[in-house]
Amino acid sequence: MSDVVIELSGLGKSFGSLEVLRGIDLQVERGEVVCIIGPSGSGKSTLLRCVNLLEEPTAGKVVVDGTELTDPDTDLDGARRHVGMVFQQFNLFSHLHVLDNLTIAQRKVLGRDKKTAEKVARENLDRVGLAEKADAMPAQLSGGQQQRVAIARALSMNPRVMLFDEPTSALDPELVGDVLGVMRQLADEGMTMLVVTHEMQFAREVADRVLFMDGGVIVEQGPPSEVIGNPKEERTRTFLARVLDPTHTHPEAPAE
Ligand SMILES: Nc1ncnc2c1ncn2[C@@H]1O[C@H](COP(=O)(O)OP(=O)(O)OP(=O)(O)O)[C@@H](O)[C@H]1O
Ligand SMILES: [Mg+2]
Repeated sequence: MSDVVIELSGLGKSFGSLEVLRGIDLQVERGEVVCIIGPSGSGKSTLLRCVNLLEEPTAGKVVVDGTELTDPDTDLDGARRHVGMVFQQFNLFSHLHVLDNLTIAQRKVLGRDKKTAEKVARENLDRVGLAEKADAMPAQLSGGQQQRVAIARALSMNPRVMLFDEPTSALDPELVGDVLGVMRQLADEGMTMLVVTHEMQFAREVADRVLFMDGGVIVEQGPPSEVIGNPKEERTRTFLARVLDPTHTHPEAPAE
């Protein structure tokens, strides 16, 4: 039996007259890792933000673990708890210790008592290899460590799915590996993940499926060996040529 965790049907999003998502249909199964690639402005972040209704879709349906988030009667705060999100900028509270960054939402949103919240927080810091940083302030950590704290914070809410929006693109190159390592471990543990990334090697090795988006539609999707290894669509090929070799130029490619 297939067990669908994310179901998008006919998902559309416009900002005024700008149509950013044009009828996206997508099902993500439990335990599946789906990587989204595509050029700047193609709607990747908007798609991710529509999954937990940080952006309100202008058309279509979003269902997460059986709950329709686009149904006006749905308790959105309740439903969003099950969706963890990690952004390019880590968005930690700079005035709070690492441990407090991890306990605050558990206590306020899930109503956990301090002791339980701290226990869960320490378990998740351990999971991302930062058990010894519980008492540090975010500014005392490297970017890669801060991003791992942000992942641990999301995990502390026991999400049913994790959304990652270019989690390594703000990091110095030598810090990228640690964050990708944590994500790979999560994937191995069976976490359902939707990941916007430019890390083609990660997508190749970890994704069950890769989606190539352009112009607000899914142009091509399939196993990484096909979409990255042997793309069918010209637009995918042009994009990959640019990403895999930044010095490559194409007459139609806008400068980034
Ligand atoms: N709040 C907003 N108001 C108006 N336009 C927006 C808003 N958010 C996004 N857009 C526009 O929607 C389009 C898609 O943006 P989006 O951020 O989803 O692209 P992206 O694929 O994530 O790009 P990038 O790779 O640069 O992150 C862009 O043209 C962007 O300018
Ligand atoms: Mg984006």
